[in-house]
Amino acid sequence: VDHLLGIKGLSREDIELIFTTADNFKDVINRPIKKVPSLRDITIANLFFENSTRTKLSFELAEKRLSADVVNFSASGSSLKKGETLIDTVNNILAMKVDMVVMRHPNPGAAVFLSRNVNSRIVNAGDGAHEHPTQALLDTYSIREKYGDVEGKKVVIVGDIVHSRVALSNIFALQKLGATVKVCGPQTLIPKYIEDLGVEVELDLRKALEWCDIANMLRIQLERQDIKYFPSIREYTMTYGVDAELLNSLSKEVTIMHPGPINRGVEITSDVADSDHAIILNQVENGVAIRMAVLYLLAEKIAR
Ligand code: CP
Repeated sequence: VDHLLGIKGLSREDIELIFTTADNFKDVINRPIKKVPSLRDITIANLFFENSTRTKLSFELAEKRLSADVVNFSASGSSLKKGETLIDTVNNILAMKVDMVVMRHPNPGAAVFLSRNVNSRIVNAGDGAHEHPTQALLDTYSIREKYGDVEGKKVVIVGDIVHSRVALSNIFALQKLGATVKVCGPQTLIPKYIEDLGVEVELDLRKALEWCDIANMLRIQLERQDIKYFPSIREYTMTYGVDAELLNSLSKEVTIMHPGPINRGVEITSDVADSDHAIILNQVENGVAIRMAVLYLLAEKIAR
């Protein structure tokens, strides 16, 4: 594998190698000296054409913990505004002797397009509603950390599936690792192709929660909706929002995950987000070790 463009192109063995590599880096970043010299001679450009808090900072920290040199680019304030193309932008950055590119972009397929048109390793940090591979890796790694294994787990992804790259990458990763996946949400937010992926649809939230071990709660992505949203946010919360009362009324323990950013009081209430049921900040913590592992494994293939 020369790039990380999506989970779809990875094997179970690839994912397990990333996990065991991340285990080592997790030990490193919990030590008083959090840095290793592994990528001392590598320069990485982080290109963010779309907003990000977690992914952007997590990649930058991962790169710095590996001793890489880092340059950051964001679309606002760049010469994209003057009409420069994506390929020209990246080729100009690569001319400055950059070795790897991490890119977030609003268009599905942007990472694949770039990988075919420039001479660099590309890491997809989220491309529109297509894939967000490092998010799925850190999510499944967090399940493995909590339960010891992903194999055999039942995971429901709740919410705005149709606009979600997190959902698609998680479905691929969970299935490759032997978990069973269902999605739950209003029919208007579930794509027609979902059952072709071997994913069952459950429209009833309580039934979905009674079935699963883990519920991954997604945000409604209003920024990706070109039609007026139906149902309304208030109706969504009434029918698909999770609060502590609902969680505590279930006949079993359910672990709550969320990729962030959370819209508190919409998809989950604060008494769920901040409870012992939630592993949301563990996911964020694990993101750094996972991204260190991905960058380290890709950089091994760069001649130096
Ligand atoms: N989970 C995630 O991708 O968050 P950001 O958009 O803040 O990077």
